[in-house]
Amino acid sequence: MPKPQSLIRPLVRDLHAYVPGEQPKIKGLVKLNTNENPYPPSPRVLAAVRAAVDGRLRLYPNPTALAVREKLARLHGCAPENIIVGNGSDEVLALAVRCFVEPSRGSNAIFGKQADRARATVQYFTPSYSLYPVLADIHGAAKNAVPLKSDFDLPGVAELKLGKEWDFKAALTFVTTPNAPSGRGYKTAELEKLCCAQKGLVVLDEAYVDFAEENALKLALKFPHVLVARTFSKAYSLCFQRVGYFVGHPELIAALDKIRDSYNVNGLGQIAAAATLDDLKFYRANFKKIISTREWLSRELTRLGFRVLPSQTNFILAKPPLFPAKDWLQKLRKQKILVRWFSAPEVKVYLRITIGTPAEAEVLVRAVCKILAVSKS
Ligand SMILES: Cc1ncc(COP(=O)(O)O)c(C=O)c1O
Repeated sequence: MPKPQSLIRPLVRDLHAYVPGEQPKIKGLVKLNTNENPYPPSPRVLAAVRAAVDGRLRLYPNPTALAVREKLARLHGCAPENIIVGNGSDEVLALAVRCFVEPSRGSNAIFGKQADRARATVQYFTPSYSLYPVLADIHGAAKNAVPLKSDFDLPGVAELKLGKEWDFKAALTFVTTPNAPSGRGYKTAELEKLCCAQKGLVVLDEAYVDFAEENALKLALKFPHVLVARTFSKAYSLCFQRVGYFVGHPELIAALDKIRDSYNVNGLGQIAAAATLDDLKFYRANFKKIISTREWLSRELTRLGFRVLPSQTNFILAKPPLFPAKDWLQKLRKQKILVRWFSAPEVKVYLRITIGTPAEAEVLVRAVCKILAVSKS
């Protein structure tokens, strides 16, 4: 009998999988660790999902999420052919790697020469979304991780040229904008310069853009090599339903469409997303509430000695006083508050704190005051 381990491809055996934030079910926990929206979906969305739970569950959903794509096309001023919907934006990000990047190792590898490396390269800034390197590893692609500037600012094209690490020919470049986990927003004009300089595909991952000052959607409609990724998870309170999408050139979208699963977006997710797009006013009011809580929390934590980086997202990155960030994670957990800490060297001195309701922000501030008071007594 073969041993199970001997059946697994070496690439998969050695893989460090993506680690999602914890989803504990502890009563009374203030959960500020996975950038979920603290407000529920709109009543119209809940009603639409409830109304769809009947005998129709036996049927396959629309294979291309057509109703959602039509509504998104109207919203973004493009055609449904400019849009592909996925099982969360994570799925479309993964499709992009499979569609545009050649594997450089593993059994599918076709390139061995250095000259061909760019065609097998997934490129991204650090820190940014920690899924990108995992997607590259799964595919057997090469990775080019290039540090952002201090305070997580985007390097300009001239700086990237000088630095020599950046690959302008990389098959696929991911840019998280606004950045995660720093929360820093980037100017569309800067992103446009970067897109103009890239020879390969650029994915602008706008998972948090509804909380930002600018968005770069127009670049996906202007350039044939730029895709913008969006999600219903964060701003639209739909993590549970897993709906995300790309906007871009119809030829890129058609190529991605060829390699996705036939029914990649579940039926209730499609219904929830379509109903969301019919009730955007409801959500825009929530964005305002979250932004104002973000500004309040940033001020309060600053007053208590944290170094809070300016954020254009629904979370903040903050360097706590007195103890290492990792200790703060535990101290807050003892107070039933869950935040996120990353061990990566560029961010290990910070905590990433999701913006919850004003009441949750107050609970956090009170807990911080308590921790600081105990440490001084
Ligand atoms: C930058 C970024 N992109 C994409 C995603 C994926 O979102 P989803 O798959 O829920 O659409 C996340 C989720 O944390 C994210 O932080």
